[in-house]
Amino acid sequence: MVNKIIYNKKTELIHKKTELIHKKTELIHMLKNSKGPVSGEHLCQLFHISRVAVWKNIQSLIKMGYTIKATHAGYTLIENKNLLLPWEFPGQEDNIFHYRESSSTMDIARKLAFKGYPEGTTIISETQNRGHGRNRRIWDSKSGGLYFSVIFYPEISAAYIFLYVLAASISLVRTIRAAASLPAAIKWPNDILVDNKKVAGVLIETSGEASYPTFFILGIGVNIHNKVRTAIPGAAALIDLAHQPIFRSSFFIMFQKNFNSILAEIYNPSLLTLYKKLSCTIGKNVHIKYQQRKILHGKAVDISRTGDLIIIDKNGKKHHAFFGDCIHA
Ligand code: BTN
Repeated sequence: MVNKIIYNKKTELIHKKTELIHKKTELIHMLKNSKGPVSGEHLCQLFHISRVAVWKNIQSLIKMGYTIKATHAGYTLIENKNLLLPWEFPGQEDNIFHYRESSSTMDIARKLAFKGYPEGTTIISETQNRGHGRNRRIWDSKSGGLYFSVIFYPEISAAYIFLYVLAASISLVRTIRAAASLPAAIKWPNDILVDNKKVAGVLIETSGEASYPTFFILGIGVNIHNKVRTAIPGAAALIDLAHQPIFRSSFFIMFQKNFNSILAEIYNPSLLTLYKKLSCTIGKNVHIKYQQRKILHGKAVDISRTGDLIIIDKNGKKHHAFFGDCIHA
């Protein structure tokens, strides 16, 4: 009985939240698509709410980052392509969860995956106070960047999960090249560099059996407008390298488009060829370090289908690196 009451309360809350999202979505679309100011009266009639409620809704949108001009003729929305709120991505409003602040989008995504949220559920956070990268390294997540995680329920063995890193890396390179006109490249295994500076990173965390994960979370961080800590040598924000404006929501939309088209042919062997073409590691002398220890040194010559970096050492011996940090010598 008690469980049923709690369950009903929860369902009620979820419905209320969905309703609120739909109302905001409609309001934003209304303001966006209008050629001139939209009068408060018109909004009252459209949404069957009072003048005060209209005003409150407008104030809450302003709080979320929108610029809305109020004149005697009504409300005018000033376009802002940097906002990452769910209703900025029509058709995905129920699939995108936006947070002003979180510990890490990876943590939220994992919780939602355990609750059974569908594949593709995406968590975006404006800032993270425990953002992390590979080997639990801190991912500096100040406002202005793009930080998000996506849930997947793959039907492949863990060995091939690298294909998703590959898909995300290619998509990031394509997006950076198109949205910022910068010569992005992939540093094995998951770093995206521009002029030798890290501008984005890809992270995958799995859950379930080691060889057949029940789900995995793909996490992506892109330094766009955020201040990059000077303590992180070799990192940069796209805006500091580009000679043009970069808009976060356009960037995200472009990334999704690139990523979905690659996912549609994830098993196509030509993707690995493309990944290698975009790699700035192949052909370089590299050190592979694991927990500060140098474990391999040689020339990077290839990448295998499961993502190992193939290295030839000074004696001509072939090695496979499948974890660790890669340092270009
Ligand atoms: C790396 O370079 O090692 C990967 C960095 C991945 C950072 C992103 S930001 C969004 C998501 N949340 C996190 O805590 N990490 C990933």
